[in-house]
Amino acid sequence: MIRENDRYGRREILRAIGAASLLGGVARGDEPEKSVPEQIVDTMNKLFGKHPGFRSAHAKGIVCEGEFVPALSASTLSRAPHLQGKPVRATVRFSDSTGTPNIPDGIPDASPHGMAVRFHLPAGSTDIVVNAFNGFAVATPEDFLALLRAISETGPNAPKPTPIEKFLGSHPQALKVVTTPKPTPASFATEPYFGVNAFVFTNKDGKARYGRYQLRPEAAEKFLTADEAAKKPANFLIDELGDRLAKGPAKFRLIVQLAAEGDRVDDATAVWPDDRPTIELGILSLTKLVANNDAAQRALAFDPLHLVDGIEASDDPLLAARSAAYAISRRRRK
Ligand code: HEM
Repeated sequence: MIRENDRYGRREILRAIGAASLLGGVARGDEPEKSVPEQIVDTMNKLFGKHPGFRSAHAKGIVCEGEFVPALSASTLSRAPHLQGKPVRATVRFSDSTGTPNIPDGIPDASPHGMAVRFHLPAGSTDIVVNAFNGFAVATPEDFLALLRAISETGPNAPKPTPIEKFLGSHPQALKVVTTPKPTPASFATEPYFGVNAFVFTNKDGKARYGRYQLRPEAAEKFLTADEAAKKPANFLIDELGDRLAKGPAKFRLIVQLAAEGDRVDDATAVWPDDRPTIELGILSLTKLVANNDAAQRALAFDPLHLVDGIEASDDPLLAARSAAYAISRRRRK
C-alpha cells in the first residue's frame, strides 16, 4: 500500500528494481566482512523472506524449450558457436520479479518479468539473462545494495525523509526507472526483453563491437490495463504459456543493439537511443513446456557470465556482481 504522504510509493520503488512485494521494514545487520554480492543476496532474503528451493530473486517461473536458428548476419558479429548457421536446442525460463515464490502474476510487483535463455552447444552451453525493462535503476553493485537497504530500512514508521526518499533524491536515474510504468503483459510471449548490460562481440576476423541483447516477440506486443491485470488469476501468465505452446510455437527475434561512438558501455542506467543500429542474431522458437517443471527450475542455474568464445563481458561492474550473486543464491536454494 502506498501511504498518501510518501514522496515515492514504496511499491513503485520495489517494482522498478525488479525486487519486491514486502510490506514491512527490515533492519540491516552489520556484515562488513561479506562481499557486496553476498550482502545483496542477504538483503534480498530479508526483503522477500527465505524460501528453501527458490531463487532469491525471480523466484516464480516456468521453463520451456525449443530451438534457436541463427540468422546469416549473426556470424558477422560474433564467432560464437551458436551464431554460425546451425540450429541449437534452447531452454528458457520466464519469471516474475521478486523473491516471492507465490506472487500473483498480474500484480504490479511481478513486473518487470525475466527471461533466461540457455543455448545448448555441441560442447557446453551459454546463457542470456534479460528483463522486460530497458535500463536498470543503478550503475554499480554498491548502489544496488544501497538501494535494497534503503527499501528495507523504509518501514511504515521511518522518519522523514525516509532512507528510500534520500536514495532516490540523490539518484535521479533510479527515480526515473521507479516512476516509469511497467504494465502487465497479456503473455510472457507478448513483451520485449532487454539485456541492459553490454557485452563485447568478436567475429572470426577479430573485429570487436559492443552491444546489448534484445529479445523481441514475433507475436504483437500486448499489455493489459491495470484493471484487467488485477482481475487475472494468480498464475495466469504461467498457465497462458502452456496453453499457447500447445497451439504452436512462441517465437522471439534475438537482436543486438550496437553501441555508437561515445555511448556508455559500462553503465546499465545509460539506455542507448533507439536509432542505434541492430544486428539480427536469429529466431528463438519455443515449442513446449519442460516436463517436471518444478524440478527443472531447481536444477537450472543461469549466469549472465556463462559465455563462450566470441562473446565477452564489458567493463560494466554489474556483470561480475550479478554472476557472483546468482552463484550465492544458487548455493542457498540447493
Ligand atoms: C547487481 C545487479 C543484480 C543482482 C545482484 C541480481 C541478482 C539476482 C539473483 C541473486 C538472482 C537469483 C539467481 C538464482 O538463484 O539462480 C537473479 C535472478 C534473475 N535476474 Fe538478476 N540481478 C541483478 C541484475 C539483473 C539485471 C540487470 C537483469 C536483467 C536485465 C536481471 C535479470 C534476472 C533474471 C531474468 C533472473 C532469473 C533467472 C532465472 O530464471 O534463473 N538481473 N538476479
